Amino acid sequence: MEGGKRVLVVFATGSGCTESVAGWVAEEAAARGLEPTLRDAKSDPSPEGFDGVVIGSGLRAGKWHGAAEQWLQRHTERLREVPCAVFSVGMRAVAGDASEGEATARQAAERAGIEPAATASLPGWFIPKRFSLPERLILKAMKTPEGDFRDEAVVRAWAAQALDAMGLS
Ligand SMILES: Cc1cc2nc3c(=O)[nH]c(=O)nc-3n(C[C@H](O)[C@H](O)[C@H](O)COP(=O)(O)O)c2cc1C
Repeated sequence: MEGGKRVLVVFATGSGCTESVAGWVAEEAAARGLEPTLRDAKSDPSPEGFDGVVIGSGLRAGKWHGAAEQWLQRHTERLREVPCAVFSVGMRAVAGDASEGEATARQAAERAGIEPAATASLPGWFIPKRFSLPERLILKAMKTPEGDFRDEAVVRAWAAQALDAMGLS
């Protein structure tokens, strides 16, 4: 894939779910001849030298993980100059309610002065052993259905559309 445009895919996760979803976004970028780099927001990757950035976070009580918000804030200057796409991963999207996760993603970008080319709210998982006891109790109290509701085809279709909207494919 030498010479392909470079895309940085950044994720913030607690249970590992959003990392796997971001991995599919990166795989779709590679399948389209781009050069993806997948990084955890906690490792504070530099967006310098990339032609586009996709950033996603899992949801906690309607919010993004702090690591994702902080990464956006830390790199606003560069991020305002490159096409960006943002996505949330959560359990509300499983019940067909994608509006909250999309709004959260868009607002996180807008707080950093970024106008995203694409947004999404993608279904995640509730696999109890991946969460702490307090988290598990909250999810159970919210009557969250147990299971893995990630959908690789949906993620890859959105990634393809987002990369198009970013002018990268
Ligand atoms: C304490 C807690 C709060 C949550 N709040 C939301 C929420 O507000 N909206 C939502 O869609 N999902 C919510 N979820 C579900 C997670 O976003 C979902 O399990 C996701 O797959 C987790 O991915 P991550 O661990 O990569 O962040 C919550 C989960 C926990 C543990």
